[in-house]
Amino acid sequence: MSKRALAFDVYGTLIDTHGVVEELSRRIGERAGEFSQRWREKQLEYAFRRGLMGAFVDFSQCTREALEFVDRALGTRLSDTDKERLMATYGQLPAFADVAPALERLGQLRMQRVAFSNGSRQAVSQLLDQAGVLDRFDAIVSVEELKRFKPDPAVYAHLHQRIEADAHDTWLVSSNPFDVIGAKFEQRRFLIRMARRGNHQGAALFGYLNGGDADTAARRRNQRRILRFQTAVIDQRAIGGEVLHPDSSALHG
Ligand code: LAC
Repeated sequence: MSKRALAFDVYGTLIDTHGVVEELSRRIGERAGEFSQRWREKQLEYAFRRGLMGAFVDFSQCTREALEFVDRALGTRLSDTDKERLMATYGQLPAFADVAPALERLGQLRMQRVAFSNGSRQAVSQLLDQAGVLDRFDAIVSVEELKRFKPDPAVYAHLHQRIEADAHDTWLVSSNPFDVIGAKFEQRRFLIRMARRGNHQGAALFGYLNGGDADTAARRRNQRRILRFQTAVIDQRAIGGEVLHPDSSALHG
């Protein structure tokens, strides 16, 4: 196994958490976007709270409890059947369109590709399988192995220990600021970059990786190719996303 690794956050980075909007629209019409946004925010907040309390549960329970909260908060009065249907849809969220071609291209780099998520191994595996990209990954690392949630420093330390990659050559691709910050906090040399600026914007990092690579095929085996790749990833303009530098505040994002 390569000592170099690219670890991908799952929800919001590979998988579009707002893929529930269509299903929501059929039930609550134009409030679907707002509902979806608040559902995701509350799901993460519940995971943060549980992390602080040391009260780990499967991430899907945070999703479920957040669904109940938002339904009450917005007064949308979803039926139990609606909620079951929405939870089932959440288990089948789509991948962003640029993910499959980018992963195929990245397969030519000598780096481990790892899915790294708050989601359970089973949930992540199902999502990636359905997106047709499961076989593009060398490993799935779920926080359930530690029973803690991102951004607990322990889960980032666990990631590179588990995949036996060098910390300074393990890269996290994540659209979630708290995920980037958590990983950076765990170890300064564990380099982390932002892929998508928000869940609604596709194609920032992946669009970059999918294009402009044709003339580099001959150089892929070259060590410099990796370095160039890394330099490109951290180029804020190239990825069109937000990049947190090692000297930036640990609390912004
Ligand atoms: C994940 C969540 C945090 O996949 O998006 O880890």
